[in-house]
Amino acid sequence: MTPAGAGARRFYYRKVKSRVVMGLAVVATVLTPAPLFLIVGDLLFHGDAATAKKYGVTLSKTGMACAMCHPMASDTHPYEYPKFQEETSKFATLRDMINWCIEPPVKGKLLAPDDEKLRALEAYILAQRNGVPLAYGKH
Ligand code: HEC
Repeated sequence: MTPAGAGARRFYYRKVKSRVVMGLAVVATVLTPAPLFLIVGDLLFHGDAATAKKYGVTLSKTGMACAMCHPMASDTHPYEYPKFQEETSKFATLRDMINWCIEPPVKGKLLAPDDEKLRALEAYILAQRNGVPLAYGKH
């Protein structure tokens, strides 16, 4: 074999290898649970009936989805948590406030603090924060 042939083979081998690595990275990104989790949070936030049914969750009995009052998660201020809430006279985390908002305004069923649906909603809201600097305790 000529040295040029060996070089070419090495070149193609590297090219194929980088394609395989790229392909695996793409597959890993698509299959990674985080975006799926966000999609579930997004759907629940927007009151998607099929998702609510699938996950057995009643976020609202009034037909009002989170997104109707908080379009694009507006006014949820995830970067301000934890903070003291005068309404409850307690320090609240974002999850506490999601639950707070499920109960009185929309008469839904409260979620346990570690419930995956609550975590999905939290993930969606946090994802909408999109680079806003943290300012915990702020009102
Ligand atoms: C009927 C309208 C309405 C619906 C539906 C609603 N919210 Fe709210 N939400 C409010 C109002 C009003 C506040 C208080 C806003 C404030 O204090 O500035 C609030 C506050 C919040 C806060 C705290 C915001 C802060 O300033 O710290 C979070 C988080 C929140 N809602 C999440 C949700 C989620 C998640 C849902 C769906 C399960 C939901 N909300 C459904 C009206 C609504």
